[in-house]
Parts: sequence; structure tokens; C-alpha cells
Amino acid sequence: MIPRIYIPADSGALALGAEKVARAIEKELRERGVEAKIVRNGSRGAYFLEPMVEVATAEGRVAYGPVKPSDVKSLFDSGFLKGGHHKRWLGAPDKIPFLAKQTRLTFARCGVIEPLSLDSYKSHGGLRGLQNAVAMAPADIVSQVTESGLRGRGGAGFPTGIKWKTVLDTTSERKYIVCNADEGDSATFADRMIMEGDPFVLIEGMAIAGIATGATKGFVYIRSEYPHAVATMNKAVAIARKAGVLGVNVLGSPNAFDMEIRVGAGAYVCGEETSLLNSLEGKRGVVRAKPPLPAIQGLFGKPTVINNVISLASVPIIMDKGAVYYKDFGMGRSRGTIPIQIAGNVKHGGLFETAFGLTLGEIVDEIGGGTASGRPVKAVQVGGPLGAYFPRALFDTPFDYEAFAAKDGLIGHAGITVFDDSADMMKQARFAMEFCAIESCGKCTPCRLGSTRGMEVLDKVAAGIEAEKNLALVTDLCNTMKFGSLCALGGFTPYPVMSSITHFPEDFKPAPARVAAE
Ligand SMILES: Cc1cc2nc3c(=O)[nH]c(=O)nc-3n(C[C@H](O)[C@H](O)[C@H](O)COP(=O)(O)O)c2cc1C
Ligand code: SF4
Repeated sequence: MIPRIYIPADSGALALGAEKVARAIEKELRERGVEAKIVRNGSRGAYFLEPMVEVATAEGRVAYGPVKPSDVKSLFDSGFLKGGHHKRWLGAPDKIPFLAKQTRLTFARCGVIEPLSLDSYKSHGGLRGLQNAVAMAPADIVSQVTESGLRGRGGAGFPTGIKWKTVLDTTSERKYIVCNADEGDSATFADRMIMEGDPFVLIEGMAIAGIATGATKGFVYIRSEYPHAVATMNKAVAIARKAGVLGVNVLGSPNAFDMEIRVGAGAYVCGEETSLLNSLEGKRGVVRAKPPLPAIQGLFGKPTVINNVISLASVPIIMDKGAVYYKDFGMGRSRGTIPIQIAGNVKHGGLFETAFGLTLGEIVDEIGGGTASGRPVKAVQVGGPLGAYFPRALFDTPFDYEAFAAKDGLIGHAGITVFDDSADMMKQARFAMEFCAIESCGKCTPCRLGSTRGMEVLDKVAAGIEAEKNLALVTDLCNTMKFGSLCALGGFTPYPVMSSITHFPEDFKPAPARVAAE
């Protein structure tokens, strides 16, 4: 049998040089007259080891990483096609501690299979969930998803089954499934990884959502910054359609479901569900007032399920292994697993899928290995640009929706950004206001004007102008934004601002005092 070499074509791996490594391996194979099949897989998510090249040996796959083009000659000299030892040798991928410690339910196939091979997908458990769903009554599918405890992974954590039930119970001649793949949060890449590494799982999840609610058409709204994900998803949809996974008779059943990929134009607010729907309809991405809920009047005024990529991609395993299997993972009201994306100034950056419940300290210190700079961790922002900054004193907070809310934080899309002790939290607070000012859709005053006023007042604090009075003004402004904004962009910007002021008051001393203290 000819050897198989796996080289990720995932955007993250490409950014780290995977294409150059692939070309160097092809060249070496040619020059040595060796035959091998190169498979372009997704990433397993251990980005600190990318480009991670794997070879299939008689004893299983053996990984090497991070591989540089200059390593390729010596890899061949070391007999890497048979798993030979080399300075980049990592051994069996699933024994690498960062990967071995994970519980992979949603990402079980990512980095393992050939992303656009439906056979590869099926041989690793793919389509079993959909097969079960086509034989069930829609209400039973919805019940199974509800019982699993799955909550939306896009940020708000709303129970997925309850959203689906509203759409199922709303009568209409047309309903839609919309997948939110705008993934605008800082430090997040889970949606992209799954679309590039296991696209059929999203298609399967959307088809199940369609059958469960009576929707026959789906759209995936992908941010324009993800060209590789767009290309892979487009190809996967065409393959699924040809194979009868999509179309008028899904898997030979009487259920019809088809879908299309749409590309956003790059606005953070277009990740907000109603703004996204406007954008999808060809309008300006401005937030709509609720009610009506999208589940009742969504895309083109029709009942619409709008779910995040990870929410939908987690449904196939629930429909395959059952609600109880999924629900058994996690803690409290946070059931199942969550793909935590560890980024920023951190040694072991990457995606770590685990049951809810690890503490923030375990994630940052043990899994992430502390800072890349080697300096002490000062703050961790959890939940994207609208998330709170957590100090070390809150590292015992378990990763759970309610536990984070109790500490004035949020999990969001589970991205965490690590900062070392050189971070200036006043600058971070100002950045939050600036981000809001730039990204605001402009519909409501607290967000549109409040964010700009917030920047100005923080600038005064930094300049030592009536610092105490101006800090009180920022607090007051944050309350107005929190309680008076129409959506979470204006409503949650106070989280990074107020957490910086509360947990790092020393950074808000006027400039002369800070110099004197140093
Ligand atoms: C400003 C803003 C940006 C958002 N960006 C995203 C995003 O990029 N992806 C996402 O899935 N949800 C995003 N959301 C949350 C969505 O509005 C919505 O709650 C989500 O798509 C619902 O899916 P879920 O229930 O599966 O989480 C954003 C919300 C706000 C307020
Ligand atoms: S909070 Fe900001 S983004 Fe949201 S509706 Fe108001 S102006 Fe638009």
C-alpha cells in the first residue's frame, strides 16, 4: 500500500506555512522517486504544533510538528514515512497531551478525515444522526435536542431545542434554517475549523434542523475573511446534493432540504442575528427590534431557526448517540462539551474541546501552559471583545454559563485571550469603547454616542483630568449602555470596561501618579 501523508489545508495551518511544507514534501517525493498519497486534512486544533504533518503507518498515525520546509529532507532521511524518529517527532496524535486530554464530540473527525470525502465522513460515524432523524417525527427530534441540554454556542446560550420548537409550532408555507458563521469574536476559530475540517457535520446538522422544524431551505452566512471555509463549504454542499444528502428526498426520505452558502461583507454587528438576517436579505446590516423573534418572523418574514455553526454541528452526535449520552457531559445547566479557543499571549494556543466545568485557571495555566512571553498572566478576556477581563483572583471560576454570569462575565463563543503583566487595562477599556464606536450599527443612542463619549472620558482619566469624577462618569455611562442599548453590542461593551476598572484599579490612576508609583 502506498503511504499516506496528512498535511492540513486549514487556514491556521496555512498561515503557519503548511502550503510550503506540502510543496517541499511533494518535491522530495519526486526527487527520491517515492510514491505517496498526500491528503489535505483539517487541523486537529493544536496550533502551537502546526504545521503538523502525519503519516499513516501499520501501527497507526504518527505526527511531526511544527514542521518547517527546511525539516523535510531530514524527515525523509529519518524514515518518517514509517514513523521514524526525528526532532519533530510527536508520536501518535491522540497521545499528544493537548489532544489526549480533550473530549471530542463535535470535533471528533476534525483533522482526522479527508474533509471533502463523504466516504471518509461516513466511515467515521457521519450521517448516522440524519439517518435516525428521517425516521422520526419532527416533534421527537426537537424533544431529543431539548433533552440533550444543548444551548446556543454563538454567545447567548439559549436552549437550541426551545428555539426549534417555536419554529416547528409556527405555521408557515416557508421556513428557513440560517447558520451563523460570522464568527467575529476575537480569539475564536471553532466555526472556521469545523467548516474547513469537517464540513459535512454542519450540513448534516442543518438538514436535521430542517426536518425537525419543517424548513426546507438553509443558508450559511460566512464572514468574508474566511475564503477557505467558503470554498470548502460550497464544494461540500455540491457533493452532498449529488449524493442525495440534500435535495428533494433527503437520504431517500420524503423530506426536502437544500442549502446555499452566502458571504458577509465584514461587519462585527452582522453576527447579531437580526442584523445578519437583514444582510442576508441584501439590506444594510442594522439590528432589528425584537419582538418579533426570528423564530416567528425571521428571514424574509418567515419563521427561521438561526443557530451558530457549533450548535448545529453538535446536533448529529446527539441524534446518533442520544440526548442522555450528550447530557452526561458538563455541569449544572451547561451540558455537553464546549470547544474552548485559547489565544493571545499563550504558550499552547489552539482549540480544546472539553466538557463544561474546567476552571479558568486549569485552562490558562495547565492546558494553555501560561504566557508565550514567559511573564506572569495578568488578565484573561473571555467571550470575545464584549467579554469581561478576569484577573488571576477569579481563576477558580468553572467554565459554565451561570458561573461566569455570576462573576459579571460571559462565555460567549468560548474564545479566551491571555494577556501578560505588560498589558495596560486602561488601554484595553478604551479599546472596548473604540471597538463599539467603530462597529456600532447606529440604531440606538446609548451605543452610537455612548461609545464615543466613553473613549473621550477615558482619555481624560488617562490624562489625569479630574480622574475620580470622570471614572464615576464612565461607570454611569456603562450603566446607560448596559440597560439602554437595543442589542448586546452596546449592552455588553460595559463588561470589558467595568471589569478592567474593578479588577485592575491601579491601571486607572492618572498618568503622573502611575509614573510616581513605578
Ligand atoms: C454584536 C453581536 C455579534 C454577534 N456575533 C455572532 C457571531 O459571529 N456568531 C454567532 O453565532 N453568534 C453571534 N452573535 C449571537 C447571535 O445574535 C445569536 O444569538 C446566535 O447566532 C444564535 O445562535 P445560537 O443560539 O446557536 O448561539 C452575536 C451577537 C451580537 C449582539
Ligand atoms: S446596541 Fe449598537 S449595534 Fe446594537 S442596535 Fe444599538 S446601535 Fe446598533
